[in-house]
Parts: sequence; structure tokens; C-alpha cells
Amino acid sequence: MSLKSEIKIIGLMGIPIIEKGDNVPAIIIKALENNGLALEKGDIIVIAQTIISKSIGRTRNLNEIIPSNEALNLCDSITPKVKTHGLPEKTPELVQAILDESRQIVKSQHVLITETRHGFICADAGIDKSNVNGEGVITLLPENPDKEAEKIRIALKKKTDKEIAVIISDSFGRAFRLGAIGTAIGVSGIDPILDMRGKRDLFGRELQTTLIGQVDSLAAAAQLVMGESNEGIPIVLIRGYNFEFSKKTSINSILRDKEIDLFRENEEDVIKRFLKKRRSYKLPFSTQNVDKKSIEECIEIARWAPSAHNGQFWRYIILERDKIRESLISKMNEKLKFDLQKDGKSEEFIKLKVEKTKNNFLNSPFLILLCMDTSDLEKYPDSKRRKNEFLLGIQSISSSAIYLLLSLEMEKLAACWYCAPLFAENIIKTHLKLPENYIPVAFFTVGYPIKSVKAPKRKKLKEIIYELNI
Ligand SMILES: Cc1cc2nc3c(=O)[nH]c(=O)nc-3n(C[C@H](O)[C@H](O)[C@H](O)COP(=O)(O)O)c2cc1C
Repeated sequence: MSLKSEIKIIGLMGIPIIEKGDNVPAIIIKALENNGLALEKGDIIVIAQTIISKSIGRTRNLNEIIPSNEALNLCDSITPKVKTHGLPEKTPELVQAILDESRQIVKSQHVLITETRHGFICADAGIDKSNVNGEGVITLLPENPDKEAEKIRIALKKKTDKEIAVIISDSFGRAFRLGAIGTAIGVSGIDPILDMRGKRDLFGRELQTTLIGQVDSLAAAAQLVMGESNEGIPIVLIRGYNFEFSKKTSINSILRDKEIDLFRENEEDVIKRFLKKRRSYKLPFSTQNVDKKSIEECIEIARWAPSAHNGQFWRYIILERDKIRESLISKMNEKLKFDLQKDGKSEEFIKLKVEKTKNNFLNSPFLILLCMDTSDLEKYPDSKRRKNEFLLGIQSISSSAIYLLLSLEMEKLAACWYCAPLFAENIIKTHLKLPENYIPVAFFTVGYPIKSVKAPKRKKLKEIIYELNI
């Protein structure tokens, strides 16, 4: 392929503010005419992502987003650093929108760098607040930018009969270098990569590894004309770049395989962070409805916990907000009150404690009761081994409880483990008519959070690893 020595980059002036449902190819044709131009074979049209997103309705209103526990915590963790750097502060709603658009958080410090569902690594999952009309409205990257590029290329081909290429671009920051540059996020008609391997250099040596990111270079060049702020030139015509037209193109071919990407955070790091961020949520829950199915899906995961001689002694009872739960909590509170009076606690203390428990258990959208089914425990004639067997049963169901808490966290549901059922065994068994061999062990309150929760202090590693002194 011969490279030309002159390439023209022409911004199309007079593009109107794009609204949902607008016909972008028709707008391009009209803009070309108004600029005294007509498409030619081999032209490349570079289109800013914002107008594609607006035209297909890929927008969201921050005012309609309810942030999850994860979003609240993440927002909390990055906020002070944002302030220190003098960068715009993120709201939990924006953080939630970013999470919704992302497969993975790659870095969260003064900015949020995520891997989008397409596999792009960029700040804020490519969400844009600028150049969008309307309070709280943000644009999201198109779900399938290649498809959007192709639709426009085919429409333009139909209207003009010219074989051209289309690139959808966004402005991305880069690792190691300051300054955002135009980057291709969707292509049609042009391969993202110009493969120079096997070609010869000036001295006749065969090129071994040279792959040129041609669509990113073109998007970056177009960006110089588009500008970033209020220039209002979201469509650029590039003329004179010599490329091989191809119908089968996808931006995916420019994304480095994870296996050979040296800068990827590995899965272990992601899991470690996830384990550290689970919190016990003891605050009021959001009014957002919780789907019982998602609770059942979490219990499905809790089945996979390890258990002594694979006894799987755990039994889960899902208590919804109904009369049964109400009367159960009221009975449990009578017992709590009685126990505390016996302990000689003050009336004020008792009132506070009872009120707190009542609120926790009555107001959570779901309350899960965990029981141990003792019928699967080994039977021993002596009390020592019976006690050990009981303990290993409790240890086993605790591991299932941890799986449950982690899967709830994964579902963005907040939860807390309460041991109250241990103190009201008979009341619970009678009230819920449980099988004789069930022992109530724990409650889990479950719902969507409204606030972030700080991590309680952990003991130092030195304090929990006991060094033998022998
Ligand atoms: C076996 C067990 C019983 C618990 N019981 C209660 C409880 O009765 N009331 C309560 O407020 N929190 C209870 N918790 C939650 C702990 O307070 C919480 O896990 C701990 O403070 C650490 O916080 P984190 O889970 O956010 O890391 C319980 C946790 C476990 C593992």
C-alpha cells in the first residue's frame, strides 16, 4: 500500500444539536452539501460518540439513579482524593452509572478507570456530562459502536454509492501520558490495525512486529478539528488517507488480549478487593424493591460452601415483610426485654435496645433465617464428641453464611448477620413451626443501602498470627 503525502481533515460546519431519533446519515449528507462537498471513494467520516449516543437515546438522568452500596462506598473512597487534586467531584449516582457501564474497575483513585462492557479501558466508562443538554443528563457509550458505524456507512453508501469508512471516536485519556486524544471506539469499512509485519523498512529489513493503530491515529487527527468544548464540530471528513476498504471490521481487533496485556489487574487482585469491601450494613434500607429471585440466587451460591463430611447442614428461610415476621419479632423482643430486665439493665437501655432490634428486623425488605439441621450430624454416644459434631455443624453453616453475604454483596445488596435467633430458639421454632431438628442460628437483614458504611478497624496481622514460642 502506498502512503499519500497529503491528507485533508475537514470539519463539517453547521451540524445542528442532535436529538434522539435524528437521522445522522441524512445530517452528514446535508452538512457535506452545505460545506460544498460530496463524498468520494476512500473518504473517512469520523463521528463524535456523543452525537451517536444522543441520536440513539443512550443517555441517562442522574436524578433517576439509586446508588448501590458499592457505588456509595466507592464514591466515599475516591472523594477526598478528588478534592485534593481539584478535580470534579463524583456523586454516588454518577459512580453507579459508571459501575453499570463497566465490567471491572481497573483503578479507583482520583479518577475511576474502568473496563467498559465493550472492553475499552477509559475514565468513567466513557460517560460524558459535557455537551449534553438537560440537568443531570449524561451520555453513555453506544452499546455496539461498530454496529452504529456500520449502519451509517451503509446508509451513506446507499445515498451516494461511494465506498467509504466510518469511525466513531471518543476522547480518551492515556496511561503514562497527560492529555486526552481522539480514540476510535467503533469502525466500519476500515481495519483498526494496519499490519506492517512482513513489509520492508528503508534498509530492506523485514518488519517483525509493526502494527499501526491507524483508526486511533485518524480519530486523534480528527479530534484536532472537532475540539473538545463548544466548537460544535462533531463530524469530520478525512480525505486522502490510503487504506484498504474492508467490510468485515471490528474495533475488537485493536483491543489487546488479556493474556498478553502486561498492565491488566489480575483476577486475584479483583477478588482481594471485593473481599475487603464487603460490609455489615446496619443502617436503614432504601425503599427500592428487592426481587425475591435475587435472594434465592444468592442462596444458590451459598450451597457451594464447604461443610464437614459434606453434611450441608444449612437451611434457609426467607421471611418477607408480613404479619408472621411482625409477630415473630414482637415475641422475640418480649424475650429480649425479659432477659435484659433480669440482667438488671436500665429501662432506658432496654427501650433503646428493643427499639433498635425491632427496626433492624422489621424494616429490612427481607429477613433470612439460617438454621442448622441437626439430623445430618453424626450421632455419638459420648457428650464430648456430640459437642464437637455440633461445633463442626455450626462451623459449616457459618461458611455457607459467608458465601451468602458475599453473593449478596455481588448483587449490590446490603446485608448484616445478626445472632439474635440463638437467644430465641424456642420462640422461633414454635412461631414458625420449624421441624424439631432445626436450630435457628442467625438472621440476615437484606435490602438496598442508602448510605455508605465505613470498615470497622481490623486487628493487625501480627496480632492474629500467633508465633510459636517453642
Ligand atoms: C457470627 C456473627 C454474628 C453477628 N451478630 C451481630 C449482631 O447480633 N448484631 C450486629 O449489629 N452485628 C452482628 N454481626 C456483624 C458484625 O458486627 C460485623 O461483621 C463486624 O463488626 C465487622 O464488620 P464488617 O462485617 O463490616 O466487616 C455479626 C457477625 C457475625 C460474623
